[in-house]
Amino acid sequence: MAGDSGASRRAAMYGEDDLSSMSIFSGNYINFGYWQDFTPGLISIGERTESQANLYRTALRRLKIDPTDVVLEVGCGIAVGTVVALREFGPRAVYGIDLSQDQLDRATRVNSELIAQQPDRLILQRGSALKIPHAGERFDKCYSVEAAQHFEDLTAFASEAHRVLKSGGRLAVATFFMTQPTAADELRRLIETIDNGIDVVAAIDSFRDDLLTAGFVDVNVESIGEHVWRGFDAWITQTEFKDGWGRNWLKAYQRRLIDYYLVTAAKE
Ligand SMILES: C[S@@+](CC[C@H](N)C(=O)[O-])C[C@H]1O[C@@H](n2cnc3c(N)ncnc32)[C@H](O)[C@@H]1O
Repeated sequence: MAGDSGASRRAAMYGEDDLSSMSIFSGNYINFGYWQDFTPGLISIGERTESQANLYRTALRRLKIDPTDVVLEVGCGIAVGTVVALREFGPRAVYGIDLSQDQLDRATRVNSELIAQQPDRLILQRGSALKIPHAGERFDKCYSVEAAQHFEDLTAFASEAHRVLKSGGRLAVATFFMTQPTAADELRRLIETIDNGIDVVAAIDSFRDDLLTAGFVDVNVESIGEHVWRGFDAWITQTEFKDGWGRNWLKAYQRRLIDYYLVTAAKE
């Protein structure tokens, strides 16, 4: 793969390689997970899956979803988190978009029953975070879980999220960012997916500025790393990746190079 771009590596990772099938993830989720009160000990597959659903719940709670809301998820993956939004938060409808056709095909297969039962409430489409395939002022709420680390242009994403939200709409983005731009070199040495361009992690202050420049107000940045990295690292030790570079995520967090954030904002 030498010389491959981050985009082509991502396409393979979410295409034929099917990242969701790797033992570091479970339940068709592909995120690091959220552990409210992590205590060391053996983690079951069910608990690992629940941690990933809990990352969604943590982001979705911030949106204060109403029954009349039409909601957009950007980078929905296999859309099991989109279904959490629909079932547990009860909006009128949730649209999920993802760049990868393979991911959308998996999402459509996994959720076929619900899509058949409620075709007007769960709508999955191919689309990019950098050019959201919807008209302006279409959504009441918008969220993204562990996908923005792949967006090559966060300025464009911020502007698109602002465009598709109605006035009074809210945004929630959960993923990892560099704590400061000077962390980049050390992170490249520690984290393979940053070094090879799969993850294009920006500095958190730069994303905050992107949101403000796009016109968002009430931009709030919350570190949730203490609920993410230790649990995720403990899970890795139970998999065949226990001796690999994936253990460096926790080191990078402990060295204050990277953190997991929940960023919320509102459109006036
Ligand atoms: C780590 S997975 C997370 C999936 C899901 N949110 C979850 O937590 O299970 C990242 C997802 O973002 C999607 N993605 C990457 N770049 C994207 C872009 N520019 N626009 C939309 N989706 C994108 C990928 O195809 C992948 O499905």
